[in-house]
Amino acid sequence: MTGNSNIAGIRASGRFPAVRMRRNRQEDWVRRMVAENRLGVNDLIWPLFVVDGTGIRQPVESMPGVVRYSVDQVADAVCEARDLGIPAVALFPYTDPALKSPDGREGCNPDNLVCRAVRAVKSACRDIGVICDVALDPYNSDGHDGIVQDGRILNDETLEILCQQAVTQAAAGCDIQAPSDMMDGRIGAIRQALDSAGCQDSIIMSYAAKYASGFYAPFRDAVGSGGTLSGDKKTYQMDPANGDEALHEVAIDIAEGADMVMVKPGLPYLDIVHRVKSTFGIPTFAYHVSGEYAMLQASAQNGWLDYDSTMMEILTSFKRAGADGILTYCALDAARALEGRSAG
Ligand code: PBG
Repeated sequence: MTGNSNIAGIRASGRFPAVRMRRNRQEDWVRRMVAENRLGVNDLIWPLFVVDGTGIRQPVESMPGVVRYSVDQVADAVCEARDLGIPAVALFPYTDPALKSPDGREGCNPDNLVCRAVRAVKSACRDIGVICDVALDPYNSDGHDGIVQDGRILNDETLEILCQQAVTQAAAGCDIQAPSDMMDGRIGAIRQALDSAGCQDSIIMSYAAKYASGFYAPFRDAVGSGGTLSGDKKTYQMDPANGDEALHEVAIDIAEGADMVMVKPGLPYLDIVHRVKSTFGIPTFAYHVSGEYAMLQASAQNGWLDYDSTMMEILTSFKRAGADGILTYCALDAARALEGRSAG
């Protein structure tokens, strides 16, 4: 920061015409020389959806370009991401409604859809990390992230099942457990459960500052939890009005053992990304969520925005804000665009 203010002081003494900011912008090569932030393929994490069956690549209507893969198809998709250099993927299951229950028990079944997908991916492709959510919403008949009783989401009772879910996923080969449930105390509980199960190396990426957002709607279509959701998630996800509270959440999760933290959604919360990264200096990820992707796709399909340039602008803005990486449904498109750029 001191450095920056010195620069500002020197600049302030200079005046037009001696100072011309446009000099450094006149050609592509000089713009590249002075670029402060660069998006790279290592910044991209690709979330993808899995569904039961075989030979399936089923479009998600509210997310043009996104499909649900059956287990036999998902490894190919992940290997493609790996070949592009993407370091990790996040897998989300579309669970058969018949398997949903009030306590979301299916989340702890070692043969559930996401565990089968993890095994398929891990046996088919090396050198790519696999992330799974820890939360009950794909399995819970109320569409909530925790156990619901008389309209209330139970915190401590939920922790036990989240711990089992995390251990089950780690046993299936999932590298990073990403608790997205926003129950209090879950990071500490899950860390302890993983350690007691011999999974000391299992990484925890905490959805530490997760807001109660309208931007998750297409995701809920994609995993089939939207139709069943009773009420909203405001008693556990954060109020979009709050910023300091996000720092409190992150501080707690770090103290409880989070290895990495996430801010979610993305663009509307870049101030939070910046504050978290500059306060804690811990690996900080941002989730460019389904609704943000849907907005971009919808305007591109109407010819109102250019998809490629706005996508790159958005993803670069996450870097500028301080994110170490971005979970984005644009990951493959961005990786291909970056590949084209370096080849050119
Ligand atoms: C589930 C979960 C959600 C997302 C990731 N994990 C939705 C929610 O909390 O309702 C949203 C991702 C997106 O919108 O792309 N806990």
